[in-house]
Amino acid sequence: MTTPTSVLVPTAHRVLHRTVETHDSVTLELAPTAAALPSFRPGQFMMLSVPGVGEVPISSCGDPTRDDGVLTHTVRRVGQASAALHDAPVGANVGARGPYGTAWDLDRAVGADLVIVAGGVGLAAVRSPVLAAVAHRTRYRNVTLVIGARTPDEILYRGELDGWRAAGIDVVVTIDQPARDWDGPVGFVTEVLARLTVDPHRTYALACGPEAMMRFSVRALDTLGVDRRRVQVSLERNMQCGVGVCGHCQLGELLLCRDGPVVDYAVAGPLLHTREL
Ligand SMILES: Cc1cc2nc3c(=O)[nH]c(=O)nc-3n(C[C@H](O)[C@H](O)[C@H](O)COP(=O)(O)OP(=O)(O)OC[C@H]3O[C@@H](n4cnc5c(N)ncnc54)[C@H](O)[C@@H]3O)c2cc1C
Ligand code: FES
Repeated sequence: MTTPTSVLVPTAHRVLHRTVETHDSVTLELAPTAAALPSFRPGQFMMLSVPGVGEVPISSCGDPTRDDGVLTHTVRRVGQASAALHDAPVGANVGARGPYGTAWDLDRAVGADLVIVAGGVGLAAVRSPVLAAVAHRTRYRNVTLVIGARTPDEILYRGELDGWRAAGIDVVVTIDQPARDWDGPVGFVTEVLARLTVDPHRTYALACGPEAMMRFSVRALDTLGVDRRRVQVSLERNMQCGVGVCGHCQLGELLLCRDGPVVDYAVAGPLLHTREL
C-alpha cells in the first residue's frame, strides 16, 4: 500500500546520456536502475534529486511516445541542487519521483492551429508537446513554435530545430539583441506573435517562460483575437514536496504542483501579480 511518506521516496536512476545544450544547460537521459516510473504526459514534471544535495522540480521534456522508462530532462544550473544535477556525469546516480502535475491539453487543439511560445529554459516544458506534434503532425492544422532567447548561444535544442521544421512545424527563433553571426529575427517573442496570421477562432496556444513574457504573449494573442480561454501557461514557481502537502507552491487557491504547472490562462492571469513564497 502507498503511504504518504513512500510517495516522497525517489527511485534510483543512472545518467545514461548527457548532452551539453548551452553554457549553463544540459539534457540528461536517466535510466531506472529498477522498476520504471509511470509514463508522463507532456507538461508534467519530476522531482529530481542528487543524494546529499537536494531535490528540484524539472519538466519532463522527452518524447512522450517513448516507453522504455528513460526520463529526459533539461537542467539549467541556477543554485546548488540544479548545479549538482547539471554536473552529474554519465553513470552517476540521480533520484527521481513523479510524474506530477497537470498536462498540456493537446486534444482540444486537434483540427485547429497550435501556437507554442517559449522563452529561455521554458522551451524544455514545451519540447514534449512539440515532439508529440512532430509524431502526429496531421492532427493539427498549422503548428507554430516561437522561441525567444537572450542570445544565439542560449538557444536550447539547436540541433533539433531543423528536424522539427522538416516535420512541418513552423519554428521561429528570435533573440533579444542583434548579435554577430545571427541573421534571424531580433526582438521579443511578442513581436513575432503580433506578425502571425492565424484564424483566432481555431487557434490554441501554450506558453512557458518568464512570467512577464507569458503575460505579454497573451496580450499579443489578444490582439490577434485569440480568446484567453484557449491559452494555457506553465507556471514554474518554487516547489518543495511536489505532491500538494507542504503548501510551498500556493498561488491564490491553486497548489501549483497539483493544480499546475499547466494552468488555463483565464485562471492564471489574475494571479500572476502574486509574489512567490
Ligand atoms: C514545474 C517546474 C518545472 C521546472 N522545469 C525546469 C526545467 O525543465 N529545467 C530547469 O532547468 N529548471 C526547471 N525548473 C526550475 C528549477 O526547479 C529551479 O531552477 C530549481 O528549483 C532551483 O533550485 P536550486 O536548488 O538549484 O537553486 P536555489 O538555490 O533554490 O535557487 C537559486 C536561484 O534560482 C531561483 N529559482 C529557484 N527556483 C526557481 C524557479 N522555479 N524559477 C525561476 N527561478 C528559480 C531562486 O530564486 C534563486 O535566485 C522548473 C520549476 C518548476 C516549478
Ligand atoms: S510543492 Fe508542496 S504543496 Fe506544492
